[in-house]
Amino acid sequence: MSSISVISGKSSEDLAKKIAKKIKADLIKSSVKVFPDGESKITLSGKISKRKSIVVQSIYPPVDSNLIQALSLISKAKEISSEVITVIPYMGYARQDREFLPGEVVTMKVLAKLFKGVGTSKIIVVDIHNLKGFEYFTIKNKNVTAIPELVKYFKKLRLKNPLIVSPDQGGKERAKEFAKEFDLEFIALEKKRDRKTGKVKIKTKSVDEVNNRDLILVDDMISTGGSIINATQFLKKQKCKRVFVACTHALLMNDAERKIRKAGVTKIVSTNTIPGKTSLVDVSNTIAKAIK
Ligand code: R5P
Repeated sequence: MSSISVISGKSSEDLAKKIAKKIKADLIKSSVKVFPDGESKITLSGKISKRKSIVVQSIYPPVDSNLIQALSLISKAKEISSEVITVIPYMGYARQDREFLPGEVVTMKVLAKLFKGVGTSKIIVVDIHNLKGFEYFTIKNKNVTAIPELVKYFKKLRLKNPLIVSPDQGGKERAKEFAKEFDLEFIALEKKRDRKTGKVKIKTKSVDEVNNRDLILVDDMISTGGSIINATQFLKKQKCKRVFVACTHALLMNDAERKIRKAGVTKIVSTNTIPGKTSLVDVSNTIAKAIK
Protein backbone atom coordinates (compact mmCIF):
# COMPACT_ATOMS: atom_id res chain seq x y z
CA MET A 1 0.00 0.00 0.00
CA SER A 2 1.28 3.46 -0.96
CA SER A 3 1.38 6.27 1.60
CA ILE A 4 -0.65 8.48 -0.76
CA SER A 5 -4.28 8.02 -1.82
CA VAL A 6 -5.76 9.50 -4.97
CA ILE A 7 -9.49 9.83 -4.41
CA SER A 8 -11.30 9.84 -7.70
CA GLY A 9 -14.48 11.88 -8.02
CA LYS A 10 -17.08 10.72 -10.55
CA SER A 11 -16.40 13.66 -12.89
CA SER A 12 -12.69 12.85 -13.26
CA GLU A 13 -12.44 9.05 -13.02
CA ASP A 14 -10.09 8.48 -15.95
CA LEU A 15 -7.84 11.43 -15.14
CA ALA A 16 -7.60 10.41 -11.46
CA LYS A 17 -6.60 6.88 -12.49
CA LYS A 18 -3.85 8.23 -14.75
CA ILE A 19 -2.58 10.61 -12.03
CA ALA A 20 -2.52 7.81 -9.42
CA LYS A 21 -0.46 5.63 -11.77
CA LYS A 22 2.00 8.46 -12.48
CA ILE A 23 2.61 9.35 -8.83
CA LYS A 24 2.45 5.69 -7.71
CA ALA A 25 -0.45 6.27 -5.34
CA ASP A 26 -3.38 4.04 -4.41
CA LEU A 27 -6.59 4.79 -6.26
CA ILE A 28 -9.72 5.15 -4.13
CA LYS A 29 -12.89 5.12 -6.25
CA SER A 30 -16.13 6.80 -5.29
CA SER A 31 -19.67 5.85 -6.21
CA VAL A 32 -22.59 8.24 -6.23
CA LYS A 33 -26.27 7.43 -5.79
CA VAL A 34 -28.59 10.27 -6.70
CA PHE A 35 -31.93 10.14 -4.85
CA PRO A 36 -35.23 11.20 -6.48
CA ASP A 37 -34.99 14.61 -4.75
CA GLY A 38 -31.61 15.25 -6.35
CA GLU A 39 -29.45 14.69 -3.27
CA SER A 40 -26.36 12.58 -3.86
CA LYS A 41 -25.00 9.94 -1.53
CA ILE A 42 -21.28 9.42 -2.02
CA THR A 43 -19.44 6.28 -0.95
CA LEU A 44 -15.70 5.68 -1.06
CA SER A 45 -14.22 2.22 -1.51
CA GLY A 46 -10.79 1.46 -0.09
CA LYS A 47 -8.53 2.52 2.73
CA ILE A 48 -7.58 6.20 2.75
CA SER A 49 -3.98 7.09 3.59
CA LYS A 50 -3.42 8.65 7.00
CA ARG A 51 -0.63 10.76 5.57
CA LYS A 52 -1.86 12.31 2.34
CA SER A 53 -4.88 12.27 0.05
CA ILE A 54 -5.34 13.86 -3.32
CA VAL A 55 -8.94 14.46 -4.35
CA VAL A 56 -9.54 14.82 -8.11
CA GLN A 57 -12.88 16.18 -9.26
CA SER A 58 -13.67 18.58 -12.12
CA ILE A 59 -16.48 21.07 -11.68
CA TYR A 60 -18.26 20.94 -15.04
CA PRO A 61 -22.04 20.55 -15.47
CA PRO A 62 -23.96 19.65 -13.40
CA VAL A 63 -21.72 22.25 -11.72
CA ASP A 64 -23.39 22.47 -8.33
CA SER A 65 -23.63 18.68 -7.90
CA ASN A 66 -20.01 18.19 -8.94
CA LEU A 67 -18.99 20.97 -6.56
CA ILE A 68 -20.80 19.47 -3.55
CA GLN A 69 -19.30 16.08 -4.43
CA ALA A 70 -15.80 17.61 -4.49
CA LEU A 71 -16.37 19.27 -1.12
CA SER A 72 -17.78 16.05 0.35
CA LEU A 73 -14.82 13.99 -0.86
CA ILE A 74 -12.37 16.49 0.64
CA SER A 75 -14.27 16.53 3.93
CA LYS A 76 -14.25 12.72 4.12
CA ALA A 77 -10.56 12.54 3.19
CA LYS A 78 -9.71 15.07 5.89
CA GLU A 79 -11.31 12.84 8.55
CA ILE A 80 -8.47 10.38 7.88
CA SER A 81 -5.54 12.10 6.12
CA SER A 82 -3.49 14.80 7.76
CA GLU A 83 -2.94 16.49 4.39
CA VAL A 84 -5.52 16.83 1.62
CA ILE A 85 -4.56 18.23 -1.76
CA THR A 86 -7.43 19.07 -4.09
CA VAL A 87 -7.11 18.88 -7.85
CA ILE A 88 -9.91 20.65 -9.73
CA PRO A 89 -8.96 20.10 -13.39
CA TYR A 90 -11.73 22.43 -14.59
CA MET A 91 -12.64 25.07 -12.05
CA GLY A 92 -16.31 25.91 -12.57
CA TYR A 93 -17.39 29.37 -11.40
CA ALA A 94 -13.92 30.77 -12.23
CA ARG A 95 -15.51 33.39 -14.52
CA GLN A 96 -17.40 34.82 -11.52
CA ASP A 97 -14.25 36.36 -10.09
CA ARG A 98 -15.41 39.97 -9.72
CA GLU A 99 -18.53 42.10 -9.42
CA PHE A 100 -19.14 42.93 -13.08
CA LEU A 101 -22.56 44.49 -12.39
CA PRO A 102 -23.61 45.95 -9.01
CA GLY A 103 -25.05 43.41 -6.61
CA GLU A 104 -23.52 40.33 -8.25
CA VAL A 105 -22.16 37.65 -5.92
CA VAL A 106 -18.45 36.95 -6.51
CA THR A 107 -18.80 33.17 -6.35
CA MET A 108 -15.02 32.61 -6.30
CA LYS A 109 -15.00 34.28 -2.88
CA VAL A 110 -17.54 31.73 -1.67
CA LEU A 111 -15.56 28.82 -3.11
CA ALA A 112 -12.39 30.07 -1.40
CA LYS A 113 -14.16 29.77 1.98
CA LEU A 114 -15.72 26.39 1.16
CA PHE A 115 -12.51 24.67 0.02
CA LYS A 116 -10.69 25.90 3.09
CA GLY A 117 -13.59 25.03 5.38
CA VAL A 118 -13.72 21.36 4.36
CA GLY A 119 -10.00 20.89 4.93
CA THR A 120 -8.02 21.44 1.73
CA SER A 121 -4.44 22.46 2.34
CA LYS A 122 -3.59 23.08 -1.32
CA ILE A 123 -5.64 23.45 -4.48
CA ILE A 124 -4.35 22.74 -7.99
CA VAL A 125 -6.29 23.77 -11.10
CA VAL A 126 -5.57 23.71 -14.83
CA ASP A 127 -5.74 26.94 -16.84
CA ILE A 128 -8.00 28.89 -14.51
CA HIS A 129 -9.99 31.50 -16.44
CA ASN A 130 -8.12 34.32 -14.69
CA LEU A 131 -5.66 34.26 -11.77
CA LYS A 132 -7.86 36.94 -10.18
CA GLY A 133 -10.05 34.03 -9.02
CA PHE A 134 -7.26 32.83 -6.72
CA GLU A 135 -6.91 36.21 -4.98
CA TYR A 136 -9.65 35.19 -2.54
CA PHE A 137 -7.96 31.91 -1.56
CA THR A 138 -5.96 31.85 1.64
CA ILE A 139 -4.90 28.21 1.19
CA LYS A 140 -1.94 27.34 -1.08
CA ASN A 141 -2.96 27.41 -4.72
CA LYS A 142 -1.38 26.52 -8.04
CA ASN A 143 -2.49 27.02 -11.60
CA VAL A 144 -0.86 24.73 -14.16
CA THR A 145 -1.13 25.17 -17.88
CA ALA A 146 -2.07 22.68 -20.57
CA ILE A 147 -0.57 24.87 -23.29
CA PRO A 148 2.66 22.84 -23.83
CA GLU A 149 0.62 19.62 -24.21
CA LEU A 150 -1.83 21.31 -26.62
CA VAL A 151 1.07 22.70 -28.65
CA LYS A 152 2.63 19.21 -28.86
CA TYR A 153 -0.61 17.97 -30.43
CA PHE A 154 -0.80 20.79 -32.95
CA LYS A 155 2.85 20.41 -33.96
CA LYS A 156 1.96 16.99 -35.38
CA LEU A 157 -0.63 18.46 -37.76
CA ARG A 158 0.37 19.67 -41.22
CA LEU A 159 -0.61 23.32 -41.01
CA LYS A 160 -0.15 25.98 -43.68
CA ASN A 161 1.82 29.00 -42.44
CA PRO A 162 -0.08 28.88 -39.11
CA LEU A 163 -0.95 31.92 -37.01
CA ILE A 164 -2.23 31.88 -33.41
CA VAL A 165 -5.35 33.94 -32.75
CA SER A 166 -7.03 34.91 -29.48
CA PRO A 167 -10.75 35.65 -29.90
CA ASP A 168 -10.47 38.49 -27.38
CA GLN A 169 -8.04 40.81 -25.61
CA GLY A 170 -8.58 38.93 -22.31
CA GLY A 171 -6.92 35.88 -23.87
CA LYS A 172 -3.97 37.78 -25.35
CA GLU A 173 -1.40 36.48 -22.84
CA ARG A 174 -2.61 32.91 -23.34
CA ALA A 175 -2.26 33.23 -27.15
CA LYS A 176 1.17 34.80 -26.69
CA GLU A 177 2.30 31.87 -24.52
CA PHE A 178 0.90 29.35 -27.03
CA ALA A 179 2.64 31.15 -29.91
CA LYS A 180 5.95 31.30 -28.01
CA GLU A 181 5.84 27.57 -27.24
CA PHE A 182 5.12 26.91 -30.94
CA ASP A 183 7.58 29.53 -32.19
CA LEU A 184 4.85 31.28 -34.17
CA GLU A 185 3.26 34.74 -34.31
CA PHE A 186 -0.03 35.67 -32.70
CA ILE A 187 -2.79 38.26 -32.90
CA ALA A 188 -5.69 39.06 -30.55
CA LEU A 189 -9.14 40.14 -31.77
CA GLU A 190 -11.38 42.64 -30.02
CA LYS A 191 -14.55 41.04 -28.61
CA LYS A 192 -17.46 42.65 -26.78
CA ARG A 193 -19.82 40.69 -24.54
CA ASP A 194 -23.17 42.07 -23.45
CA ARG A 195 -23.05 41.53 -19.68
CA LYS A 196 -26.83 41.10 -19.49
CA THR A 197 -27.60 38.82 -22.46
CA GLY A 198 -24.17 37.13 -22.67
CA LYS A 199 -24.12 37.69 -26.47
CA VAL A 200 -20.72 38.38 -28.06
CA LYS A 201 -19.63 40.49 -31.05
CA ILE A 202 -16.24 40.86 -32.73
CA LYS A 203 -15.31 44.55 -32.84
CA THR A 204 -12.10 44.18 -34.89
CA LYS A 205 -12.60 45.67 -38.35
CA SER A 206 -10.02 43.79 -40.46
CA VAL A 207 -6.83 41.72 -40.14
CA ASP A 208 -4.63 41.28 -43.20
CA GLU A 209 -2.23 38.83 -41.51
CA VAL A 210 -4.72 35.94 -41.62
CA ASN A 211 -5.05 35.89 -45.42
CA ASN A 212 -4.43 32.41 -46.87
CA ARG A 213 -3.07 31.05 -43.55
CA ASP A 214 -4.23 28.25 -41.27
CA LEU A 215 -5.30 29.65 -37.90
CA ILE A 216 -5.39 28.21 -34.40
CA LEU A 217 -7.93 29.97 -32.21
CA VAL A 218 -6.72 29.62 -28.63
CA ASP A 219 -9.05 29.98 -25.65
CA ASP A 220 -9.22 28.69 -22.08
CA MET A 221 -12.72 27.32 -22.52
CA ILE A 222 -15.69 26.91 -24.81
CA SER A 223 -19.10 27.13 -23.22
CA THR A 224 -21.89 28.11 -25.63
CA GLY A 225 -19.39 28.47 -28.47
CA GLY A 226 -20.41 32.11 -29.04
CA SER A 227 -16.85 33.46 -28.85
CA ILE A 228 -15.40 30.85 -31.22
CA ILE A 229 -18.31 31.04 -33.69
CA ASN A 230 -18.15 34.83 -33.95
CA ALA A 231 -14.37 34.83 -34.29
CA THR A 232 -14.46 32.08 -36.95
CA GLN A 233 -17.12 33.84 -39.01
CA PHE A 234 -15.07 37.04 -38.88
CA LEU A 235 -11.79 35.26 -39.78
CA LYS A 236 -13.37 33.40 -42.68
CA LYS A 237 -14.52 36.77 -44.09
CA GLN A 238 -10.86 37.86 -43.89
CA LYS A 239 -10.06 35.00 -46.26
CA CYS A 240 -8.07 32.75 -43.96
CA LYS A 241 -7.57 29.05 -44.78
CA ARG A 242 -8.60 26.51 -42.14
CA VAL A 243 -9.58 27.40 -38.56
CA PHE A 244 -8.58 25.03 -35.74
CA VAL A 245 -9.53 25.50 -32.11
CA ALA A 246 -7.25 24.74 -29.15
CA CYS A 247 -8.82 25.05 -25.73
CA THR A 248 -8.22 23.52 -22.33
CA HIS A 249 -11.83 23.07 -21.24
CA ALA A 250 -14.53 22.15 -23.76
CA LEU A 251 -17.90 22.39 -22.04
CA LEU A 252 -19.68 22.57 -25.42
CA MET A 253 -23.09 23.34 -23.96
CA ASN A 254 -26.24 22.38 -25.85
CA ASP A 255 -25.53 22.27 -29.57
CA ALA A 256 -22.21 24.17 -29.43
CA GLU A 257 -20.10 21.58 -31.24
CA ARG A 258 -22.42 21.41 -34.25
CA LYS A 259 -22.71 25.21 -34.41
CA ILE A 260 -18.92 25.62 -34.24
CA ARG A 261 -18.42 23.16 -37.09
CA LYS A 262 -21.17 24.90 -39.09
CA ALA A 263 -19.30 28.19 -38.63
CA GLY A 264 -16.37 26.55 -40.45
CA VAL A 265 -14.05 25.17 -37.77
CA THR A 266 -12.05 22.18 -39.07
CA LYS A 267 -11.16 20.64 -35.69
CA ILE A 268 -11.68 21.33 -31.99
CA VAL A 269 -8.92 20.05 -29.70
CA SER A 270 -9.40 20.17 -25.94
CA THR A 271 -7.98 18.36 -22.90
CA ASN A 272 -9.32 15.71 -20.55
CA THR A 273 -10.05 18.22 -17.76
CA ILE A 274 -13.53 17.69 -19.20
CA PRO A 275 -13.86 14.25 -20.81
CA GLY A 276 -15.61 14.17 -24.17
CA LYS A 277 -15.31 13.73 -27.93
CA THR A 278 -12.87 16.62 -28.37
CA SER A 279 -10.64 15.87 -25.35
CA LEU A 280 -7.65 14.61 -27.32
CA VAL A 281 -4.91 15.94 -25.03
CA ASP A 282 -4.04 14.34 -21.69
CA VAL A 283 -3.08 16.63 -18.78
CA SER A 284 -2.33 13.89 -16.21
CA ASN A 285 1.42 14.39 -16.58
CA THR A 286 1.14 18.15 -16.05
CA ILE A 287 -0.97 17.61 -12.92
CA ALA A 288 1.26 14.82 -11.59
CA LYS A 289 4.30 17.13 -11.86
CA ALA A 290 2.47 19.82 -9.92
CA ILE A 291 1.58 17.37 -7.13
CA LYS A 292 5.17 16.12 -6.70
C1 R5P B 1 -14.12 34.51 -21.94
O1 R5P B 1 -13.49 35.50 -21.65
C2 R5P B 1 -13.55 33.13 -22.01
O2 R5P B 1 -12.15 33.13 -22.14
C3 R5P B 1 -14.16 32.34 -23.13
O3 R5P B 1 -13.84 32.97 -24.36
C4 R5P B 1 -15.65 32.27 -22.97
O4 R5P B 1 -15.99 32.08 -21.65
C5 R5P B 1 -16.24 31.17 -23.80
O5 R5P B 1 -17.64 31.16 -23.62
P1 R5P B 1 -18.59 30.97 -24.86
O6 R5P B 1 -18.19 29.70 -25.55
O7 R5P B 1 -19.98 30.87 -24.26
O8 R5P B 1 -18.45 32.18 -25.73
